This record gives sequence, structure tokens and C-alpha cells, in this order.
Amino acid sequence: MIELRHLSKTFLTKEGSFEALRDISLTVEDGDIHGIIGVSGAGKSTLVRCVNLLEKPTSGSVLIDGEDVTNYSGRRLLNLRGKIGMIFQDFSLFAQRNALANVIFPLQLRRDSRKDAAKRGMELLELVGLAHKAKSYPAQLSGGQQQRVAIARALANHPSYLLCDEATSALDSLTTDAILQLLKTINHELGVTILVITHEMKVIETICNKVAVLDGAQIVERGKTADVFAQPEQQITQRLLGQAMAEAAAQAAAESATAVSASTTLTDQLAYLEVKSDV
Ligand SMILES: Nc1ncnc2c1ncn2[C@@H]1O[C@H](COP(=O)(O)OP(=O)(O)OP(=O)(O)O)[C@@H](O)[C@H]1O
Ligand SMILES: [Mg+2]
Repeated sequence: MIELRHLSKTFLTKEGSFEALRDISLTVEDGDIHGIIGVSGAGKSTLVRCVNLLEKPTSGSVLIDGEDVTNYSGRRLLNLRGKIGMIFQDFSLFAQRNALANVIFPLQLRRDSRKDAAKRGMELLELVGLAHKAKSYPAQLSGGQQQRVAIARALANHPSYLLCDEATSALDSLTTDAILQLLKTINHELGVTILVITHEMKVIETICNKVAVLDGAQIVERGKTADVFAQPEQQITQRLLGQAMAEAAAQAAAESATAVSASTTLTDQLAYLEVKSDV
């Protein structure tokens, strides 16, 4: 279980201080796929970076499996991060390492034997459907494939938790769906608890059982996804939902336009053939 208790984060900059998170309390239960949604600048990345202590909270605490880890450092922090995998929008793969070498990087840090690491690496590539691309470098992989490699790498240490910061934002709609299904499988079959950060309601709707809405550094609404979708209380939630519905309608319209143009092409072809046979 991940618990954030009265967590705040203030950045000190040359221009002064900036409060990115204010009094955040949140529980992510084991087995959840929990979403955090908000517009750009709401504080989502800062929040997720506080969970694995890439950012140190200014006040409040982070508890993992009931243990206060807020002040962990050194070896204890490294061990903690082994429990928490993370994936990013830009995949963050090492360009000079092939897919397998990327996946086994955390195992090499842990000084696993080369043979064990390679075996585990291939199992993970198998899990994400990319065993056949083990020798490919990131530049030779599509965005969706790169994100699969990043997911495999994030799972290398058998983490209990996976944090996803806009993991599908750089991907097209079909590839997004495939990656979301993969995350669902990882949750169901490996029992990994997932925290998903996104600005897209579609992502929340597709995989999250619970959601919290972050706005202006605070959680303004939260609950089971079905409840929040059925009765969004806050204006920002209604706006995000409205936007998602408009996007879905636009996509449906684009798909039917494609169908029309496809059938137009077919009609044209038939007409062409008829003319031809008349000649
Ligand atoms: N290291 C930092 N120093 C100063 N301000 C920061 C720092 N990191 C983030 N911020 C500020 O905190 C606010 C929240 O940033 P954050 O990256 O968490 O937003 P976000 O919700 O992830 O946005 P996006 O959807 O664009 O990724 C922003 O106004 C940002 O400028
Ligand atoms: Mg962000």
C-alpha cells in the first residue's frame, strides 16, 4: 500500500517559492490501478516523484507498506526503489544499449550473474511481446515498442509498484490501447499495484479502478472511477470528462469519414471497371 499523508512540496526558485503540492493525502491499496488526473502544471509529476522520493516532500510523509520512508537515504532508498518501478512519457531508454541490455540494466546494477540477468531479461521481453526484438536498439523500435521495453525494464526487480508518468502520451490511440492492456495484464497477472499519472480521461476510464483529480496543487475530487464518471462534482472534472467525450466523438466521426472515403473509393473503382467493360 502507498500512503501519502498531508504531503506538500514547495520549490524554491530565483523568483521565489512555488507551492506545487498542498496537503495531499492519498491511499493506493494493493491491487489498485489508481489514476491521478489533472491539467498541465497541476503537480502530477511532482506528486509521483515524491512517491519514490526523486523529490523530497517539504512536509508530510510517504508510507510504503505501512513504513514511513520519507527520510530514507543511501542503501535503504535504493532498496525501496527496487520495489517501485517507474516509466515515463519519453521512454528513457539507453540509446547505446539494445532492448535486452536495457531491460537487464537494473539487474547488472544489482550484480546478478550475466546468465541469470539474460534469462530474466528474455522472460520480461517475452511478457511484453518483444522477445524477437531483443537485439534491436531503441532507434530501431517504434514508440510503442520502446515503451514495452521500458515497462520490461521497470519490472526487472520484481517491483510491487509501478508508477507511470504519462506513459502513453507520446503514442497514437491504437498503440495507447495496447500499452494500457499490457498494464492491465501486469496488474492482474503479476499483482503489481499501479499508479497512473495522466491528463487523459480515456486512460483513467480504460484501466483505473480509482481516480483522484489534481488541480492547483491539491486533490479536489477522488473516488471509484465509475462513481466519479457518473457524478463528477468539480468543474475541472466535468471539463476533463467533456473534453474526453468530445475527443471520442471526433474520433468516431473521423473513423466514419474514413469509411465513407473508403467506400467512395470502392464505388469509384466499380464505376471505373464498368466503364472499362463498356468499352
Ligand atoms: N524543480 C522545479 N523547480 C521549480 N518549479 C517546479 C519544479 N518542478 C516542477 N515545478 C513547478 O511545479 C508545477 C507542477 O509541475 P509538474 O511537473 O508536477 O506538473 P504536471 O501536472 O506534471 O504537468 P504536465 O502535465 O505538463 O507534465 C509547475 O508549475 C512547475 O513549473
Ligand atoms: Mg508531468
